[in-house]
Amino acid sequence: MRQPLVVGNWKMNGSTATIQTLLEQMKQGIGSVERTKVGVCPPFVYLSQVSIALGATNIAWGAQDVSQQAEGAFTGEVAVNMLKDFNCAYVIVGHSERRSLYHESDELVAQKFAAVQAGMMIPILCVGELLEERESGDTENVVKRQLDAVLNLAGIAAFEKAVIAYEPVWAIGTGKTASPQQAQDVHAFIRQQLAKYDNAIADKVQILYGGSVKGSNATELFSMADIDGGLIGGASLKADDFLTICRAG
Ligand code: 13P
Repeated sequence: MRQPLVVGNWKMNGSTATIQTLLEQMKQGIGSVERTKVGVCPPFVYLSQVSIALGATNIAWGAQDVSQQAEGAFTGEVAVNMLKDFNCAYVIVGHSERRSLYHESDELVAQKFAAVQAGMMIPILCVGELLEERESGDTENVVKRQLDAVLNLAGIAAFEKAVIAYEPVWAIGTGKTASPQQAQDVHAFIRQQLAKYDNAIADKVQILYGGSVKGSNATELFSMADIDGGLIGGASLKADDFLTICRAG
């Protein structure tokens, strides 16, 4: 039985003041979330604030990206050990905004995934197709290619301590959610790909759905057999909306 997981990806949003309010409201409301493990991924500069505010709670936190390099002359980058310093549990790698806006390749994403794991944190590996790829029937090819890059570098055993997020790019921030069946089909495909190497790992890995998840559609999405929770963008910035989604897990 996989535990549901709902993670808020705040993207490049928030300020010290708005984050303080959001965290207070989350702490007040988290008692109403029964089964679901909850986490938030703020921008790097707020990790200290978040780690202090959430330290004594059961809400986890993580980062939205990381460098594949360990340390050195890489201006603007943040290393795995720095994230460990702030007790991050999770690190998102390969978000579609990183892949498309910052040209991150499958190979780079795989290196980041491996670096996070070597640092004893849990990578949340994002995969997903563009609208034109879905329309040309390439969804499975794209997702397989993105997964294979990580499997080739890190191996199947790496997925014992990893989370996968399926985020169809056409559903991110657009208000267009994948239908529960569309999402389920890809989640099942991802699990099948891993099962080719190891059934037990495929069965255990949490696969989250991301892309316009809201309080109003979360229950339906999360009730699908292979959907184990969500990676939430916009709706994670309001405590009420986010907690409603967390309760749906
Ligand atoms: P939205 O929930 O805003 O569509 O964003 C999804 C996402 O990209 C989470 O990583």
